[in-house]
Amino acid sequence: MTKGDRGHFATKFGVLMATVGSAVGLGNIWRFPYQMGMNGGAAFLIVYILAVFLMGIPAMVAEFIIGRESHKNTVDAFNTLAPCTRWNLLGYLGVITGGIISCYYCVVVGWTLYYLCISASNSLVGYSPEQYNVVFNNFVTNPYIPTLFLVLVIVITGVIVSRGVQNGIERMSKIMMPMLFILLIVLGINSCMMPNAFQGLKFMFVYDASKLTFDGAMGAVGQAFYSLSLGMGCLITYSSYFKDNVDLPKTASQIAIVDLLVAVLSGVMIFPALFSLGMQPDEGAGLVFKVLPSVFSQMALGSVWAIMFYVLLFIAALTSFMSLYEVIISFVVEKFNITRVRACIIMSAIFAVMGTISSLSFGVLSDFTIFGNTIFDTFDYLSTTILLPFGGIFTSLFVGWRLDKKVINTQLNINSPFKFKAIKVYIFFLRFIIPIAILTMFVFSIVN
Ligand code: PHE
Repeated sequence: MTKGDRGHFATKFGVLMATVGSAVGLGNIWRFPYQMGMNGGAAFLIVYILAVFLMGIPAMVAEFIIGRESHKNTVDAFNTLAPCTRWNLLGYLGVITGGIISCYYCVVVGWTLYYLCISASNSLVGYSPEQYNVVFNNFVTNPYIPTLFLVLVIVITGVIVSRGVQNGIERMSKIMMPMLFILLIVLGINSCMMPNAFQGLKFMFVYDASKLTFDGAMGAVGQAFYSLSLGMGCLITYSSYFKDNVDLPKTASQIAIVDLLVAVLSGVMIFPALFSLGMQPDEGAGLVFKVLPSVFSQMALGSVWAIMFYVLLFIAALTSFMSLYEVIISFVVEKFNITRVRACIIMSAIFAVMGTISSLSFGVLSDFTIFGNTIFDTFDYLSTTILLPFGGIFTSLFVGWRLDKKVINTQLNINSPFKFKAIKVYIFFLRFIIPIAILTMFVFSIVN
């Protein structure tokens, strides 16, 4: 591919797998179950579903419109659609947010690779629950091993992304995503067949209004945006590689439904097993790394299930990390007019340094805090609680108020067998519902 040729996704299936690959990640399998576990199960799920359908899908379509109309990276997209204005700051915000998320995301992807390796070498079974805590804590506070794994993850991702959109991202996603679904279903069925599994299903699906706090509801809205990769130009970048044969509202709905299904299936894989073994669902962020190993170790063929689970988590995390990477690479390539390979080498070096710093914040740098938070927590908080909602609000406002309605109309109807008629309702959502809802969430998270 030459410098000027941006490339595109070759097939509709490739489009779907790559965008689903971005959306389905640590957010679904690691974050969603523990958030749900801490926020009352079914009540959280209901708000989450509403947020996905009422805000997530319209916001995703908005990002798709910007990306496919401009066929540019997230900064130049705004330069093209609103020339000589300050809207391009929103593009820069996306690149910065993507960079910040990458700096801690690569750390957790590295953890999954490590857990995959130790389960493959049969060293993850046979401990007591307390010992799994110790295993995890010893690992994350070690200055070398997590660094080694995060660098490995960065190199793997860098190589895939440097191969371009079609040969790298699309090809890998088409293999990895179907594999992930098969694994999830197998693990879910296994979990549901354990004794007392229905307790876990009850926790997930039987609604109890008294468990729904305002905090939990807002958490569900934030989770929906994070999980759908919204608010940082990621889907603007991916849709800039869409051809005109892609039906935007239909694709967004498919992605949202698959993402939701994966989150729910992750719950089905985790909660019945957890309840069956008499464990608590509100363990927090350590759920997947501290509690699940002890679930596996009490199951027949425990290490086989463990390997399958960490393969799955690794695949999901890697395809999301690829999309974060791509936002930055497409910007760097087009802005500085350098080759993808060179951009990937430079960015990998930067991520390796930043990732190492955030990883060390669990160990030797744990005393270095910013407003009481470690560097890792600061990156997480800054991006998820502040920058993503901010990006989401302004992207909706941009399409709702600034973009020509004819552009919206054309983008929504290109190659759609059904004419998209609800355009007024859609614009109303972008202008009012989404910004107000996110703003409420934003203010609430800050106050907390
Ligand atoms: N959606 C990804 C996940 O669920 C995280 C992500 C956020 C990826 C923003 C890209 C952009 O893990």
